[in-house]
Amino acid sequence: MRVAIASDHAGFEQKAPLAQYLSDKGFTVIDEGPDNAERVDYPDYAKRVADAVAEGRADRGVLICGTGIGMAIAADKVHGIRAANIINPEFAALCREHNDANVITLSGRFVSLEENKRILDAFFETDFGGGRHAGRVEKIMALEN
Ligand code: RB5
Repeated sequence: MRVAIASDHAGFEQKAPLAQYLSDKGFTVIDEGPDNAERVDYPDYAKRVADAVAEGRADRGVLICGTGIGMAIAADKVHGIRAANIINPEFAALCREHNDANVITLSGRFVSLEENKRILDAFFETDFGGGRHAGRVEKIMALEN
């Protein structure tokens, strides 16, 4: 699986270790930046990862900012993206099972690196449940039209 990852300055410290964590698990990680911890605008990096997923260059996306909130709001503006801001492993599993989320956004300031690793485990190990959830996700995507 190809995973695009990016952060802003507030998520930068966790980006490399999380990218390495995913790489060690066998994922192909595409680092969409930034290259340093200088102040940047999170929508620019949300767009990079969202575009990579929407255009099929990546299967999933991971975004890290201070809260994860701005990254989710921005990424969800891109057609084809279902981004969820997640702060615990239970919600990570549910955003996959119920919502078929294809981008996860994380908090670099309020959630520890170790907890974010557990969140990524749940996100990548949980399949979409389909069934009654499928029609609801279709209705979400129809809102883009
Ligand atoms: C940057 O200060 C902060 O606003 C950003 O990282 C993020 O938390 C926005 O949602």
